[in-house]
Amino acid sequence: MSIPIVRTFAELRSIVAPWHRDGLKVAVVPTMGALHEGHLSLVRAALEQADRVIVTLFVNPKQFNNAADLAAYPRTEHEDAAKLAPLGAHMLYAPDGPEMYPDGFATTVSVAGTSEGLCGTYRPGHFDGVATVVTKLFLQTGADLAFFGEKDFQQLHVVRRMVRDLDLPVEIVACPTVREEDGLAMSSRNLRLSSAQRQAAPKLAEILFATAEQLAAGAPAQDVFAEARQIILSAGYREVEYLELRADDDLSPLEAAECPARLLVAVWLGDVRLIDNVRVRPKQGTAEVVAPAAAA
Ligand code: PAF
Repeated sequence: MSIPIVRTFAELRSIVAPWHRDGLKVAVVPTMGALHEGHLSLVRAALEQADRVIVTLFVNPKQFNNAADLAAYPRTEHEDAAKLAPLGAHMLYAPDGPEMYPDGFATTVSVAGTSEGLCGTYRPGHFDGVATVVTKLFLQTGADLAFFGEKDFQQLHVVRRMVRDLDLPVEIVACPTVREEDGLAMSSRNLRLSSAQRQAAPKLAEILFATAEQLAAGAPAQDVFAEARQIILSAGYREVEYLELRADDDLSPLEAAECPARLLVAVWLGDVRLIDNVRVRPKQGTAEVVAPAAAA
């Protein structure tokens, strides 16, 4: 069993146009490859809701603000295709750099507000790169549905804002973060962790959920964050970029979980940057943490 791999927009269009003509519902799952169970859960969800599923694989240089990070990003196309084939995804669209950004490419899609703060502060230009490539992928595939993981929670908000603002005819479907059995949020970057770092890594989710419990019990964010940062650092993390409480629906900053909220974190473990987030949901004046599903 194999999956067709398409390299050019022209070929993509020639395959997808008849799908659209026949009224089939087309879904896209944008990825940068190094596929893990999180990506596969998006593909499975897409297959349930659409007639045709295109998985895209493009390590988008425009969203890396750091050349070393781009160079180190895992590239495992062969394995990725092998993981997708048995699921029944219909196409792997894997263009190269010049196909996506031909000579003279000069357009940037930039989403103000939502792209600022959190990862936007520490990765300047990152969300412009994401918004630009995702717009292209939506237009190239003409997808009716697009699937994104909640793990990249700010990205999900940026894409939703962009789709609303530009009237892009695509419905964004969010899927829950998938975690390893020890709680570590799945990420292509986990492949870069040494075995010692991999052992330390699940501490982050543990601390995040414990902090969310405190917020759920009504603690003011600033009171619990100082201690949480210390615990993260003493668990072996090199740096905490941010630890913030934001509103679930519009990412506005919160001082306490008095409405449906997200606790978001970005850290460095050695030279690997990891992000994670958990939902904190208020209930009768306090908030209730939604615990991670084993595969969510
Ligand atoms: O989440 C990712 O892997 C990337 O940001 C995306 C959405 C595929 C755009 O390059």
